[in-house]
Amino acid sequence: MTIPLQMANKDLVFQVNPNPSPMPVDKRQEVLDKPVFGTVFTDHMVDICWSETGGWHRPRVQPYGPIPLDPAAAVLHYGQEIFEGMKAYRHSDGSIWTFRPEANAQRMQRSAARMAMPELPVDYFIRSLQELIAVDGDWVPSAPETSLYIRPFMFAKEAFLGVRPAKKIAFYVIASPVGPYFGGNAKPVSIWLSTNYTRAGRGGTGAAKAGGNYAASLLAQSEAAEQGCQQVLFLDSVEGKYLEELGGMNVVLVYKDGTLVTPASDTILSGITRDSVLALAEARGHKVERRQVSIDEWRKGFDSGDIVEAFACGTAATVVPIGQLKAPDFTIGSADAPAGEVTMSLRDELIDIQYGRRPDDHGWMFRLDA
Ligand code: PLP
Ligand code: COI
Repeated sequence: MTIPLQMANKDLVFQVNPNPSPMPVDKRQEVLDKPVFGTVFTDHMVDICWSETGGWHRPRVQPYGPIPLDPAAAVLHYGQEIFEGMKAYRHSDGSIWTFRPEANAQRMQRSAARMAMPELPVDYFIRSLQELIAVDGDWVPSAPETSLYIRPFMFAKEAFLGVRPAKKIAFYVIASPVGPYFGGNAKPVSIWLSTNYTRAGRGGTGAAKAGGNYAASLLAQSEAAEQGCQQVLFLDSVEGKYLEELGGMNVVLVYKDGTLVTPASDTILSGITRDSVLALAEARGHKVERRQVSIDEWRKGFDSGDIVEAFACGTAATVVPIGQLKAPDFTIGSADAPAGEVTMSLRDELIDIQYGRRPDDHGWMFRLDA
């Protein structure tokens, strides 16, 4: 990808404090050989401060570890927190790349605006990733379908109990080597349809990647687990009729004629994976519809044979076929349904681009270690 001028800020000086006791190489290798999502973290983290008077300042790379936080920090009381999710991929020549980082940076700015937080400039965001990879590049695994999951996040650190936007904010980036989110590679998953809970309402924070949205999804996610399902699907909060998204992924339906349909709503997260997969599908000649889609449409379409596949997509999950959707009073599909052909071929194309095995015609890849 070409670097817009705004992203070429080489003058940003990060203070680097190396970790005096990084994980021993053999122990790190054991982790990289079998990474489990979000359990082990690299030796360093990035942090940048913001204050109302000083703006963004003091960019640092420091040893990974606990964050000092005043018990009155606003995030602990009012949940003013947002985050992003991205991955670093190791290509066969050893180089390290990430996918559409400016899209994550811009989405974090939109999340910040919604949560009354300051917007981190795109070049600060991207430089943070580069600085972390400069010290922790050896943590990017090379086994098939593994990557380094990168988690930028930002929270209200001001110690003040009045309810208003915080005047002191902290931005951090941490990273964790990961394998497939659902364990088995691209094995179809089961989804539970939540009819008791919704995730977001009109005018709310559903389109922001705010921690509170995930807190709101946890009870429904626990219900899904009790039903033997890996994820929960939420419906709209007004009519309880239209598909929104899963707890941590977007959803796409595939019709017999090749059309891909995905919910359009300002109460869901605008997924970068979904946007990319749909762009790949459009380039192949598939028709793509971003519109309201009801649960009845899915039920009837499945029964009539018009809807032939469904998949979940997101950075952590990549593209995962949905085998069945379980609701309290009906089921669509079955747990042992085979993975759909369109789903799998779009998945392969996306992953091949991310791992540098296919040309990056869209200019999505960004080198982090150069
Ligand atoms: N929807 C939710 C609620 C998510 O948490 C995610 C994951 O980040 C997505 C959708 C997919 O977004 P992306 O593809 O940008 O990771
Ligand atoms: C991501 O895909 O990056 C997310 O934030 C979703 C979560 C399930 C880890």
